[in-house]
Amino acid sequence: MSFLDELISSYFTYALAVVAVLHVALTLGPIAKRRRNKNIEELTAINELPNLGKPRLSGKRIDGTVVVAGGSIAGLLTARICSTHFSRVIVVEPEAWLSTKAGVSHELTGGKGENGKKPNPRARVMQYNAIHNYHVYTLYALRELFPNFDAEARKIDPDAIASSDIKLHVGGRHLKAPHGFYKGDFPMHFSVNRHTYETLLRKLVKRDCDNIEYVTGTVVGINTITNSTRDRVESAIIRSKDGVETTEPTLLVVDCTGPASAALKWVSTPAKPLKVPRDIYDPKMFYTTCEFEVNPAAMEKVPIPGGYANSRVILVYTPDPRIARNTVYIFRREHNTVQIACGGWDMHERPRSIDDIRTFISQIKGTEPFPSFVSQLLDALEDNNCGASATYTDTRCPPCHSIKYHAVADKLPSNLIALGDSVMRVNPVRGQGCTKAMIGAATLSGILQRCEPIFDQSSGRDILPHNFGKTFWEKHNRRIASLWVQTKADDYNWATTVPVEGETLKKGAFLRWYGRNFLNVAYHNERIAAVLHNSSMFIAPGTDAISPDIAIRVVWAGFKEFLGITRS
Ligand SMILES: Cc1cc2nc3c(=O)[nH]c(=O)nc-3n(C[C@H](O)[C@H](O)[C@H](O)COP(=O)(O)OP(=O)(O)OC[C@H]3O[C@@H](n4cnc5c(N)ncnc54)[C@H](O)[C@@H]3O)c2cc1C
Ligand SMILES: *[C@@H]1O[C@H](CO)[C@@H](O)[C@H](O)[C@H]1NC(C)=O
Ligand SMILES: *[C@@H]1O[C@H](CO)[C@@H](O)[C@H](O)[C@H]1NC(C)=O
Repeated sequence: MSFLDELISSYFTYALAVVAVLHVALTLGPIAKRRRNKNIEELTAINELPNLGKPRLSGKRIDGTVVVAGGSIAGLLTARICSTHFSRVIVVEPEAWLSTKAGVSHELTGGKGENGKKPNPRARVMQYNAIHNYHVYTLYALRELFPNFDAEARKIDPDAIASSDIKLHVGGRHLKAPHGFYKGDFPMHFSVNRHTYETLLRKLVKRDCDNIEYVTGTVVGINTITNSTRDRVESAIIRSKDGVETTEPTLLVVDCTGPASAALKWVSTPAKPLKVPRDIYDPKMFYTTCEFEVNPAAMEKVPIPGGYANSRVILVYTPDPRIARNTVYIFRREHNTVQIACGGWDMHERPRSIDDIRTFISQIKGTEPFPSFVSQLLDALEDNNCGASATYTDTRCPPCHSIKYHAVADKLPSNLIALGDSVMRVNPVRGQGCTKAMIGAATLSGILQRCEPIFDQSSGRDILPHNFGKTFWEKHNRRIASLWVQTKADDYNWATTVPVEGETLKKGAFLRWYGRNFLNVAYHNERIAAVLHNSSMFIAPGTDAISPDIAIRVVWAGFKEFLGITRS
């Protein structure tokens, strides 16, 4: 060891001792517990679960109409929540076919389009056929929202509810799911295609909520009235598919319009222009989802760890950013299909055959070799002529955005909110979008449970309290902010990412360093792997990963890595 190393290491030992003392003080005892409970309440939507979808504590529904713009994942969840709190809910969705039988049918449509592309019936949701999966929190919430959810899901596919072991490989290295830690009770998750989830959601909302109406059209604006201190939406303007505009009096408007982010336009008028601040950056993310019809018996022969029939998620491969830029996901899906998604930052490949996938994988550099069963899986697909049934879906992900409504909450109408992709769109690499929408809906649910309408003198009727929107924006932002910060820090690993205006790709360096070393610890420590699993599945606060006893190990791992580098 050099003199310098010794010096660093002695200082470091001293620092560690201080941290250790702090650790004893902070992780044991009531202070730590209170702090963690506060984090659970503020940073997660876990505490909303018991009351989710349950009747109002005060019994009676609020008399009035909610207008929900958008009838996709976020819109349907919002409608479900609002139906228990308000006497009437209107879901406004431009795609007419969704309100026909086809919108609640799991029948497969389409077949094969031009050039092997899978036809997309959903004009405004370009990722409708792209590979999807949902975090544990989503399942926990769906179980609260819909009686017999598991049974309904299993009617579509007996394995729709499956172990949340996502078979994560980072740069080839397997982060084993901490099965031992959970003692056979490993959390389950809901694991189906995006179109299956949306269709099931629509079916269950229609089954359970008789006070929701579905209108084909778009919400094009709002009429507000100004109270000297704050605006309030009095009515929403809905344009039907024939271009006829109607005005719908409303107590609450929720923007669930996804990438259209329609509320941005509603809140700014020539008379009262308002620029809502927003951050935008572009990781230039691209995915090709390849889908194969398979014979399960033939797939059983592939040496997938745990066996084909027991694996819902077969592989999640993310690259070591220092040497590679591509991801691979392999999922077993409903109707005897297997999906293989090839993705990446600034990816230029457009796989169109099993052989193309093989080439794509062979070019990914890793710290460890690519899991070998994958090449046998590709062989099995080829041997069984699965290429004949294959379809391909290319998705160029639009830039990520985070609209900071919470920063201008005082200037917004008090009864207008937004959730889902209309507020924040993150890189789908971690598959968080639909759970983010669920967190938004659950946050709304909690606020409504605690909210009593107030009497408004001027209109002579009950309205929502003047601080309603502000309460929502602040609470919601605290619960989703970390998704933005973390995925962005990750995306800044790649030089091709176009950063947020005013930022450089250096931003988030500490988070990247911490994340890498956290992973290095988690490979060897099941409890820490469980902390990672819980927080990444949204059933524990992310702050668990920086609790003093864990931070000390992570910093130590980072220090060892640093010494390793200086020695060589
Ligand atoms: C390649 C890819 C992979 C992904 N993988 C995952 C994954 O694995 N897991 C996951 O959870 N998420 C994933 N996502 C993200 C997920 O698909 C989205 O987060 C989710 O669809 C957002 O739902 P939403 O309801 O907010 O918006 P959308 O699904 O975009 O729906 C918006 C709706 O609003 C309607 N609309 C538009 N304008 C108006 C208007 N003016 N008035 C009324 N209605 C309007 C549209 O027709 C549409 O129905 C992925 C995304 C991509 C691109
Ligand atoms: C205007 O809003 C404030 C709160 O923002 C409220 O206290 C006041 O009663 C409102 N005035 C009227 C006339 O509604
Ligand atoms: C993870 O969550 C489960 C279920 O909520 C819990 O039983 C377990 O103790 C948690 N593990 C850790 C390490 O936080």
